[in-house]
Amino acid sequence: MQLFFTSFTNSCLDSSFFFILLSLFFSSFFILIPFLQWWQHHRNKDKRLPPGSMGWPYFGETLMLYTQNPNSFFSKRQKRYGDIFKTHILGCPCVMISNPEAARTVLVTQAHLFKPTYPPSKEKMIGPEALFFQQGVYHSMLKKLVQASFLPSTIKNSVSHVDQIVQKLLPTWTNRTINTLQEMKKYAFEVAANSAFGEIKELEMEKIRELYGCLEKGYNSYPLHLPGTSYWKAMKARKVLNEIIRKIIERRKERRNYGEGLLGILLRGRGDDDERRYQLSDSQVADNLIGVIFAAHDTTASVLTWILKYLHDNLNLLESLTKEQQQIQNKLAKESRGLSWEDTRQMPFTSRVK
Ligand code: HEM
Repeated sequence: MQLFFTSFTNSCLDSSFFFILLSLFFSSFFILIPFLQWWQHHRNKDKRLPPGSMGWPYFGETLMLYTQNPNSFFSKRQKRYGDIFKTHILGCPCVMISNPEAARTVLVTQAHLFKPTYPPSKEKMIGPEALFFQQGVYHSMLKKLVQASFLPSTIKNSVSHVDQIVQKLLPTWTNRTINTLQEMKKYAFEVAANSAFGEIKELEMEKIRELYGCLEKGYNSYPLHLPGTSYWKAMKARKVLNEIIRKIIERRKERRNYGEGLLGILLRGRGDDDERRYQLSDSQVADNLIGVIFAAHDTTASVLTWILKYLHDNLNLLESLTKEQQQIQNKLAKESRGLSWEDTRQMPFTSRVK
């Protein structure tokens, strides 16, 4: 009985104590949040930040972004605050810009005032040793190697392969409505992957395609590293991609033939005209291969989509472009051959459509 009484009193005390604690916690939270927001607002005012909301302390506006369509998240704020606004996403205070002048300021005229940084979750997924996340000597060395893989002398040899990619993709568009961006993404991925790896087994490429798709899905998802989430699946896919790339590297090293593409250049550690040689580890090579595919994929696909939209809206341009392309097509048919580098140099009108 005594025992029961004690435990009863204790449990009463426990629950009222717990209740008091809970109330205190919530009330302090409600007092604390407006205070922190006020403090943040005043602190930001001093730094002359653009209008916008930094959201909740610590979480910022991350949850809001991930619980609604990202397009409406950004367009709502653009309508409310203008083309330049501040927000706080994935642990990073940021300023969103959506006009050409601001982009020019950041990327060209005042580029020296900015340093590229990425949320840690994104960096981990692409590969921390990729050139985007680096500065200094390692960055310059990688930049040189990546640039070497896109010199005319290097990409000259991939014209027929790119032509084959297009020839394979075009028939899949007949008799159906397509999502232009999705199709441009398919195309851009094939070209980027070919530039990155050079020639590899089709089975391997299929696996890379599938894993990359998973990686891309997770890249834009909430970075919650729990089994079953898109982020978790993407990190898993990234690990498998590393294994596949490691095997390809091993094979090329065994054959003493580093092969084509950016992979060949990274393994050799120098471009065609380079005197110096850099020794990169397998993980450095893998991070940079995935990084370059990532850099080339969405950007190119979206530019191509906009080009198609503008051509669609400007029929006179589309007509002139079609005429130039048809002339080349006729020439190829007459000479029974595929597209060559020299043909791509004979497209004065097409090369200005960009
Ligand atoms: C039209 C398509 C593209 C657009 C709009 C675009 C845009 C950008 C932008 C805005 C940056 C950041 C520049 C900076 O921080 O100063 C960048 C960096 C980069 N892009 Fe692109 N890009 C495109 C295509 C490509 C392609 C096809 C590749 C393939 C190699 C590529 C590789 C890179 C690399 C390696 C970097 C990092 C450069 C560095 O850290 O120094 N991009 N790109």
